[in-house]
Amino acid sequence: MREYSLWDKWILTFDKILPAKWDPLTTRPNPATHIPEMALTLSERKHAAGLMRINHVGEVCAQALYQGQAFGARSVVIQEKLQKAAQEEVDHLHWCQERLEELNAHTSYLNPFWYISAWLLGLTVGLLGDKISLGFLAETEHQVARHLTKHLECLPTLDKKSRAIVEQMRLEEIEHASTAENAGGIPLPLLIQWSMQALARCMKIIAYRI
Ligand SMILES: [Fe+2]
Ligand SMILES: [Fe+2]
Repeated sequence: MREYSLWDKWILTFDKILPAKWDPLTTRPNPATHIPEMALTLSERKHAAGLMRINHVGEVCAQALYQGQAFGARSVVIQEKLQKAAQEEVDHLHWCQERLEELNAHTSYLNPFWYISAWLLGLTVGLLGDKISLGFLAETEHQVARHLTKHLECLPTLDKKSRAIVEQMRLEEIEHASTAENAGGIPLPLLIQWSMQALARCMKIIAYRI
């Protein structure tokens, strides 16, 4: 029986008021489950923890974005199309949290702030209409996939467990981008894309440390 984390409870609360339904308690197995833990140096462990903390924050924001977007969106059909992606984001959140626990590291102390900010952003884009909202999701997923590719270059070579999680997430984020595009998302102006990248860069610098 899974113990409810703070995020499980939070997602369950919001899930009750959303038109779309995804289950925060039904998750797929962690892709790193059967990979043995390798001996990392203290600095490698700290670095891996910082990177996985960033990824956990990214997944907290993904929950908030999907939920905020679902709250503001007009089309229930669109929500149904996004349901698989949203459910996979729940898995990502759990996998990152499990890895942080294995690395004896904490999640970001600022998670409530990240969640509320991303939820409001999701709500705002949701209210702008499905095409823009889906375009925003697609661009977010593209940026996350590129960011995860960089993390695969930065993670300690011996940290095969974190690598397995990040690689699985990367493949699924690419699929999520296609899902949002195929559902009708339109490309966002370059200025918006750059602003999103700048915001994400600030988040990464802070989340790596706290
Ligand atoms: Fe994700
Ligand atoms: Fe995603």
